[in-house]
Amino acid sequence: MDHTGKVIKCKAAVAWEKSKPLVIEEVEVQPPKANEVRIKMVSTGICRTDDHAIQGTFKGVEFPVIVGHEGAGIIESVGNGVTHLKPGDKVIPLCLPQCGKCSSCLNPNSNYCFKTHFEESQNVLPDKTSRFSCKGNTVHHFEWISAFSEYIVMPADAVAKIDDKAPMDKVCLLGCGFTTGYGSAVQTAKVQPGTTCAVFGLGGIGLSAIIGCKVSGAARIIAIDTNSSKFEKAKQFGATDCINPKDHSKPIQEVITEMTGKGVHYSFECIGNTDVMKAALECTHPGYGTAVIIGVAPPDDKIIFDPLLLLSGRTWKGCVLGGFKTRDSMPRLVSDYIAGKFNIDGLITHTLPFTQINEGLELLRSGKSIRTVLLF
Ligand code: APR
Ligand code: ZN
Ligand code: ZN
Repeated sequence: MDHTGKVIKCKAAVAWEKSKPLVIEEVEVQPPKANEVRIKMVSTGICRTDDHAIQGTFKGVEFPVIVGHEGAGIIESVGNGVTHLKPGDKVIPLCLPQCGKCSSCLNPNSNYCFKTHFEESQNVLPDKTSRFSCKGNTVHHFEWISAFSEYIVMPADAVAKIDDKAPMDKVCLLGCGFTTGYGSAVQTAKVQPGTTCAVFGLGGIGLSAIIGCKVSGAARIIAIDTNSSKFEKAKQFGATDCINPKDHSKPIQEVITEMTGKGVHYSFECIGNTDVMKAALECTHPGYGTAVIIGVAPPDDKIIFDPLLLLSGRTWKGCVLGGFKTRDSMPRLVSDYIAGKFNIDGLITHTLPFTQINEGLELLRSGKSIRTVLLF
């Protein structure tokens, strides 16, 4: 049935209040306005950030809300002014747009487009209104995506068209977790062959950083997690050493510095813990070590650190979505995956129907899953 220009009624997982189970509800989804598209979702991965949002610990979330930001779908209809997408296109929604016009988009070294929800309210679309309602209530957006809904409306600048051959039950991971970790190594740190890397936190993001280090030819990849059950997967993806900070009386940065002589070439913080961010800087080699922050810290947390760490030649960086220009790189990443340059299948530990989303969230909270993919 053609719904173009009309409201669609469909299922979505609504978070009515913080820290409560999501409720599968029938919601109304408005048609796209100018420069927006409406997408029929096919799959969505559950990321740690979604749970932070549900728990009310992610900056700027307002309830009721539909969260979710790692997905893949098919364009249902497009608003006026949209030229790069058409109904039927396979797409990946992006938590960082690429408008192509702002100072970051025009700078070859940045992907931090300013037409993003990081710079504006993420609860509503750029025109400051919502496209979702349920039982007479306005329901808020999340990161301008809200992937936990059968249909979503998004700014077209934040939607990448991908290859028709893309396996939709897998490529959803490219929307956040995989690209965030992989890009931090390949694009932001630009890991060089023969080097030593340390990856802190072995969830979907950390394991993807390991994949990036391995693809880049790192000689040694040290994987760190407080949960030793994560080590088997880390080794499968290329970790050469696995360490649990709980097994050592010394601070972890000292353990790593001793293991490597003077420290690692690159470190990646994939947890969102400011103490670990500092440790990850301290374990890099003076003179040329680079530490990359990927994890999202709690909204008001700050770091106090010794500036001599940087004066002595270390570099401290951070990035969103791996530092890749989003709409440019997503089709390329999908093609690289189809061509077998890297394998993301091992990151998916569970696949469930969309309606079992609360089960998927429990798997994440208990540390049993890396990624659960929900199928609509
Ligand atoms: N030291 C070492 N490992 C830790 C510590 C710690 N202090 N605290 C937690 N961990 C480990 C957990 O055991 C887990 O394996 O970090 C891993 C984090 O993985 P997930 O919770 O699955 O998170 P992930 O989806 O990979 O996201 C990581 O990136 O996008 C952000 O918001 C996200 O900040 C989060 C981070
Ligand atoms: Zn995410
Ligand atoms: Zn831009």
